[in-house]
Amino acid sequence: MNYFITGGAGFIGANFVKYILRTHPDARVTVVDALTYAGNIDNLAEEIRDGRIRFIHASINDAEAMARAFEETEPDFVVNFAAETHVDRSITGPRVFADTNILGTMTLLEAARRAWRRPDGSWQSGKRFLHISTDEVYGSLPKEYGEPKPIAIPDDIRALVARRRDVPAAFGSGFFTEKTPLAPRSPYSAAKASADMMVMAWHHTYGLPVNITRCSNNYGPMQFPEKLIPLLINNIQQGRELPVYGKGLNVRDWLYVDDHCSAIDAVLLHGRPNEVYNIGGFNEKTNIDIVRQVVDLVAEFTGTAPRHDLITYVTDRPGHDMRYAIDPLKTAAELGWVPLTTFEQGIRRTVRWYLDNPEWVRKIVSGEYMDYYKKQYNR
Ligand code: NAD
Ligand code: DAU
Repeated sequence: MNYFITGGAGFIGANFVKYILRTHPDARVTVVDALTYAGNIDNLAEEIRDGRIRFIHASINDAEAMARAFEETEPDFVVNFAAETHVDRSITGPRVFADTNILGTMTLLEAARRAWRRPDGSWQSGKRFLHISTDEVYGSLPKEYGEPKPIAIPDDIRALVARRRDVPAAFGSGFFTEKTPLAPRSPYSAAKASADMMVMAWHHTYGLPVNITRCSNNYGPMQFPEKLIPLLINNIQQGRELPVYGKGLNVRDWLYVDDHCSAIDAVLLHGRPNEVYNIGGFNEKTNIDIVRQVVDLVAEFTGTAPRHDLITYVTDRPGHDMRYAIDPLKTAAELGWVPLTTFEQGIRRTVRWYLDNPEWVRKIVSGEYMDYYKKQYNR
């Protein structure tokens, strides 16, 4: 199998590269990344040094570079992680979100179409363009769960999941399914939703074999510390305030990054072509619950007093989506995928990783990061 992974130097991309090399030792892996502020070549240093991946430093917006990369590497699977990903940055500077997330995706779709379509109009077999999207494209759910749908979770899936976590009795109307209409509300999610529509357009119009995955909030090693969990860990260590937007009651469905990686691989290997698959953690939490848990874990691991005193309620994010909650039953039923990491396990592993890798964090939280931090939090 020959993987072409864009955005592979970022958080989920780098975890996915490692996951693939671990689970498919014979896989050929090419990583394409523009190394924006969020891309970190250190995440892949070992794999590059060992010659286990080929790294191409290029933007998905660069049509010539993408055409050349397809010609040289002849990939079977494109996995498009490359994107601008931080909602707060999309509020203060939306244009680059349109450039990368929409136009970049179109450029990549075009490169795949040209590379995979034979002169007689037929398609090379075994090819798949997997676009990594997000639950944010569905918009915002009300805080309340809504009326449960009379769709019981199939017994076999319940049994599989229940070994690891609490499963709701039934998913309510207040969950995102693959059929939920797209209703993005931030410049980030609007750009991601536009990209999803482009991907489906390339399928319907040209016949490109595609998939889209829409996942909930990921957490784990190597996440840029502008996102909630690594930002908290870093701020606690620096004795800096822990900024909680609004009342801290917004809800996200958290998934350990390795479980996202296994879902993506399952879609590539077993997903029906041209289908959308939701990926979620069965794990809804309010932000303030996350903050308190991270504070307690840092204290436990460092043998210091828990710094709940640092929790500071700050001005809410404009247009802040209230709740995201994924119904992942289609993915579970069709692909036999379930998340295997409980939140307890995942969050302990995650906090440990940041505490054990101060050098990784130190390199990032300098320069551009501090300028961003001052502007974003006015502190
Ligand atoms: P990230 O910001 O950590 O990484 C993004 C990567 O894309 C970086 O390495 C960056 O250098 C690269 N990149 C940006 N612009 C590029 C361009 N023009 N050409 C090539 N590379 C470029 O993001 P992440 O959190 O790892 O997210 C990866 C993907 O998963 C994104 O598409 C995101 O929308 C999606 N997603 C993320 C989450 C989450 O919780 N983090 C959840 C669901 C979906
Ligand atoms: O749901 C999937 C999405 O999850 C991905 O598509 C995005 O790329 C990813 O960034 C993430 O978006 P969120 O906006 O949910 O993640 P973030 O870590 O920025 O914020 C999580 C929650 O915490 C959100 O409700 C806002 C809140 N928050 C965030 C920050 C950075 C705070 O209260 N304080 C903060 O300082």
